[in-house]
Amino acid sequence: MITDAMRAEMRDLADRYPSSRSALLPMLHMVQSSDDQVTQEGIAACAEVLGITEAEVTAVATFYTMYKFSPVGKHHIGVCINTLCGLLGGDAVYAKVAERLGATHNGPSADGNFWLERIECQAACTHAPVMTVDWEFMDDVTPQSAVDIIDRLAAGEEVWSTRGPKIRDFQATERTLGLASDELATEGNCVDEKMLAGLIVARQQAREQRGSDNS
Ligand code: FES
Repeated sequence: MITDAMRAEMRDLADRYPSSRSALLPMLHMVQSSDDQVTQEGIAACAEVLGITEAEVTAVATFYTMYKFSPVGKHHIGVCINTLCGLLGGDAVYAKVAERLGATHNGPSADGNFWLERIECQAACTHAPVMTVDWEFMDDVTPQSAVDIIDRLAAGEEVWSTRGPKIRDFQATERTLGLASDELATEGNCVDEKMLAGLIVARQQAREQRGSDNS
């Protein structure tokens, strides 16, 4: 349900941009934070705040895969199946997770609590294969570790991303994506040794090259 408070937040978002319609993407995330999907009520609210038609809002919302038109449930599960993740086991992870959830691509689990999606490269290939839970990274997963994570979420246990942040739920994440700031940006680790390995080698080679040029 789109409350008066949320409409006020939408207006604040619109005021942040030189052209207010640029606020539509975060506003659609706000809509999903309210109802775990893009509802007709949410589309109407976006259109009213931005002074555009509902057809224009719908055209944008249906273009981007992050916006859903059926209830996502408590958690969104993404499994990357692009080149590096696929080669390192992403397809096997997806198959096992799909079996565990009783779900197919871009659809709900049998119990309606999860949403499963094959996702494109998340720019996290260093830790392939990668799964996301509510868009938080689960690095270096295996078919079994991925299912273990689902089991723990289903049991209501606390689950933490391998990069630090605690998993909340889909609607909480959507609110984060909609807000200009929720003060969570510094939560977790940004980089680790594995991510920096290429940079360290490149710097070492540059030093060696400079040394041989000077000799
Ligand atoms: S290929 Fe999966 S994160 Fe890049």
